[in-house]
Amino acid sequence: MRAVNILTLFIFIFNPVLGQDEVTEQVHRLIKVCDYCTCSEIPDVDGTHLVLNIQCSELDKIENLADLDKIQWPANPNGLKIAAAFEGLGLTTLGKLPPNSQVETLRFSNNAIKTYWPDPFSDVQNLKKLSFSQNELTEITPDLFTKIPGLEDLDLSYNKITDLNPLDFKFLHHVKRLNLQSNLLKKIPVDALQPMIMLEDLDLSKNGIFDVLLRRIESESLKKVTRLNLSGNRIRSIVKESFPENNNLELLDLSNNIIEVVEEDALLSCNNLRELNLAQNNITLTFALPPTLQIAILKINTLYHWPKFPSSITYIDLSYNRLSALYNENNVDFNNLEVLSIGGNQIKDFHIENKLPKLFSLDISYNLISDVPKCLSSQIFPNLEELRLDGNPIESIYFKNILALKTLYMNDLNKLLVVEDKAFSNVIGRTNELMSGEKYCFTLFLSNCASLHTIQEGAFDGTSLCMLDISKNNLTTLSKTLLEWTTLSEGANLQFNPWHCSCELQWLLDDLLPQMYRANSRLLSELRCGSPRAYQGLRLVHWYNWTEQAMCNDDYMRGGPRGTYLTEPTDSGPKVTSLTLILAGCILVALLIAISLFVYLVKSRRRHRIRQAALNRKRQSTTDEKNSNGLQREQFTALNKT
Ligand SMILES: *[C@@H]1O[C@H](CO)[C@@H](O)[C@H](O)[C@H]1NC(C)=O
Ligand SMILES: *[C@@H]1O[C@H](CO)[C@@H](O)[C@H](O)[C@H]1NC(C)=O
Ligand SMILES: *[C@@H]1O[C@H](CO)[C@@H](O)[C@H](O)[C@H]1NC(C)=O
Ligand SMILES: *[C@@H]1O[C@H](CO)[C@@H](O)[C@H](O)[C@H]1NC(C)=O
Repeated sequence: MRAVNILTLFIFIFNPVLGQDEVTEQVHRLIKVCDYCTCSEIPDVDGTHLVLNIQCSELDKIENLADLDKIQWPANPNGLKIAAAFEGLGLTTLGKLPPNSQVETLRFSNNAIKTYWPDPFSDVQNLKKLSFSQNELTEITPDLFTKIPGLEDLDLSYNKITDLNPLDFKFLHHVKRLNLQSNLLKKIPVDALQPMIMLEDLDLSKNGIFDVLLRRIESESLKKVTRLNLSGNRIRSIVKESFPENNNLELLDLSNNIIEVVEEDALLSCNNLRELNLAQNNITLTFALPPTLQIAILKINTLYHWPKFPSSITYIDLSYNRLSALYNENNVDFNNLEVLSIGGNQIKDFHIENKLPKLFSLDISYNLISDVPKCLSSQIFPNLEELRLDGNPIESIYFKNILALKTLYMNDLNKLLVVEDKAFSNVIGRTNELMSGEKYCFTLFLSNCASLHTIQEGAFDGTSLCMLDISKNNLTTLSKTLLEWTTLSEGANLQFNPWHCSCELQWLLDDLLPQMYRANSRLLSELRCGSPRAYQGLRLVHWYNWTEQAMCNDDYMRGGPRGTYLTEPTDSGPKVTSLTLILAGCILVALLIAISLFVYLVKSRRRHRIRQAALNRKRQSTTDEKNSNGLQREQFTALNKT
């Protein structure tokens, strides 16, 4: 690849006649970028200063853009920094860019660049950010990144790089951010990274890296890295040798690998680590966590026990593991814990005695908890805002102690048949401190409980809801006094229940429906009757604005002829009186039509008989008519016979 490029260059330089021709020709063919691309002065990403932004995308039709060496940079009277994007243009070769000292950002994302001229950037020496994301690069050569010593941000993601050589980044001493995501690397390119002594953020996710053994390597650059992403590789284990002594890692993403073992003290050399992600691996045994750790994401593994978390921990995600018990309260300090997710485990008892003062989100869904845990109280969880209890085998809901919340999730409770009086009486809302004077209320999701058929009248006594979702249950009736329905600021979702549309639910049409129609009409489309038969499937909104008590009418209950008519789920039905009139009218008109039809038929039959004799004679004389009127003749014969 490079040989060809050098050859071209050779011919270009050492053939003076041809060379001159080319130069004059090139002057004529210069492409003024702003004639084809969008050029505008916009604030920089950090908003501190203006940059001259040049955006060339696939919509722009630039002829002969095969090599970008023919472009002419725009006049830039204000001396702004230039950010230029040549994206989605189908470029396969990158030419040498013409000189410009203001160019700071270049993006060639989403082309098909495979080859390049030597030193393509040597005339844009102040380049800081460069992106080759989504191209066809298979290798890098040392003559790609020459004379851009100030480069800080290099994006080579989504290419086909299989390996990097020690000299590839030889001149890049100031790179802070290197993205090699989604390439075909099989190992961490330690030697190639050596020149990048300022590297902080290294993304090696979605490659084919199968081991991490960085301790033995004398690599200053890797010691400096603070963010390392190794997600989506083929790493099998993390061992003591994995990370250098006294490294600077603050964030380590090892999610989506096939790690089965993390050696007990493998992570203890990461003595600045704040965030660790080991989600979606196959880790069974616990290991030591660095004392600085704040965020631990360990979901979707096969852990049987709780790791020992340091007291700095604020965020724990252990969902979808094999935990069967809670942590040992004598051994932990969870005074800083804000989020605890242990959904999808096999925990039967959730019993805590020590306060979790900062916890605002607790997820204990999809475990084996059969009662609302008694420890769920504002004494133990003084700052709780979000509680998830979904998918547990809870048969009866009762919050024994006062608990202030913003949102309570209790979906998918398959064993729940009845919500009893006072079930939620001890749950109270939590105000948003910023909006003082607002009512204390909480939002409840109690949806998809297939067997839930009754919510007793006093279930919410003494409490106040902002929103109630009781969709997808097996409810047939609902008490008007269950709630102050008008205070639900975000409405009630009652859809997908087999409501029994009788006089008992008339209040719903009178009180709730108009309110929902105005404020939450999207919650009406699947609000339908399940019974009686005559109304099955009918939308309640069908009765919107009816003046009479539609569901209390006895005639309707028995499902007479008019009842049958009503099973058509139309949204705006006519009123009862006009309906009767129309029906009667229809019957009358139908009768009249029938009588006149009969008279007409009798008369026309007589006429046919008279005409038949004449026609018979005619038929015998002409053969043509025989063919064309075959059908008619048959009809006449049929009439004759009768
Ligand atoms: C690590 O890379 C994966 C895949 O590219 C990405 O989804 C994830 O957000 C990255 N992690 C961090 C912390 O940026
Ligand atoms: C992870 O473990 C599970 C069961 O423990 C097994 O079925 C699965 O194949 C393992 N995955 C890998 C990538 O080893
Ligand atoms: C829902 O209620 C009906 C009777 O009202 C009952 O036949 C049905 O089995 C119930 N469904 C479930 C899943 O419990
Ligand atoms: C319902 O009635 C109100 C007043 O009685 C009227 O303003 C509104 O347009 C009606 N809506 C429909 C859909 O008929």
